[in-house]
Amino acid sequence: MLEELKATGEAALADIAAAADGAELEQLRVRYLGRKGELTLLLRRTGSLPAEERPAFGQTANQIKKKLEAALAQAEASLAGRAQGPAVTAGVDVTLPGIKPRRGHLHPVTQTERAILAIFERMGFTVVEYPEVELDWYCFEALNMPPDHPARDMQDTFYVEEQVVLRTHTSTSQIRVMENTPPPIRVVAPGKAFRRDSDATHTPMFHQVEGLMVSEDISFAHLKGVLIDFVHQFFSPEVPVRFRPSFFPFTEPSAEVDIGCVVCGGGGCRVCSQTGWLEILGSGMVDPNVFINVGYDPDEVTGFAFGMGIERIAMLKWGINDLRMFYDNDLRFLRQF
Ligand code: PHE
Repeated sequence: MLEELKATGEAALADIAAAADGAELEQLRVRYLGRKGELTLLLRRTGSLPAEERPAFGQTANQIKKKLEAALAQAEASLAGRAQGPAVTAGVDVTLPGIKPRRGHLHPVTQTERAILAIFERMGFTVVEYPEVELDWYCFEALNMPPDHPARDMQDTFYVEEQVVLRTHTSTSQIRVMENTPPPIRVVAPGKAFRRDSDATHTPMFHQVEGLMVSEDISFAHLKGVLIDFVHQFFSPEVPVRFRPSFFPFTEPSAEVDIGCVVCGGGGCRVCSQTGWLEILGSGMVDPNVFINVGYDPDEVTGFAFGMGIERIAMLKWGINDLRMFYDNDLRFLRQF
């Protein structure tokens, strides 16, 4: 009977080790330790043994019972742990590093804006910001565009009210800053601009950086020096720069600034329309009429202004061919910056 007892104990331990879930364990508990369990029944037969064999049998039976109870409890705990997750399952290395959440970063337009501003700040320009919703005066009239001026056709304007517009350019800042501050002035003004336009190279909202420098004896040479230095710092010191005569109502003379095509290096390609040059900004000497409109004396001061599109500059810097990418919020695009 002692042999039978030991064999039952071995079989029970093997069964417990092989159990796949809690229900199976419970079945095993009933089968071996229950009221009519195999071990219980064996124990009940102790009385049928010769008196001198009983103590040893009883002792062994109790040891086996304790072993089985311990094995059941342990198996139960480990199965419960497995149900909670794979971390404690055999074969999984719980010391492996977890999956880190990705960190966000600044939008490429913001990165470009900050890079542009940093260059001008090093040249002594101060950053200023003004409203996106503007009076007609600041957007057009004071910038030498009276109501009947043909140059207003250049702008596709969003009107809030008859005299209130979403600014079509950051040149509003020229008037804003000069009407509040006596010369000398050296500012850059970043911000949003709005035009009724939408295709691969135009979005209804885009960003510009305006620049304005006014003092006694500011000349076109200063304009050239500052802008060439900017291009060389932002793109590369090797990039060729040219000033092409142009027209803006609020500057005279005016020039658009081109850089040697950063895609083909000047040989001619699709991006530069085979010209070898890319336009990056508009500029010019502040028109005397603008000075008069802000109460400056055009015989006392001169100055230059410039305005550039941030998205356009970002596109050239990174070789992006569709402006709308900046506003799709496609993470596959944004994560590249
Ligand atoms: N405001 C002009 C534009 O949006 C750019 C410009 C700014 C030109 C300052 C000359 C001087 O196109």
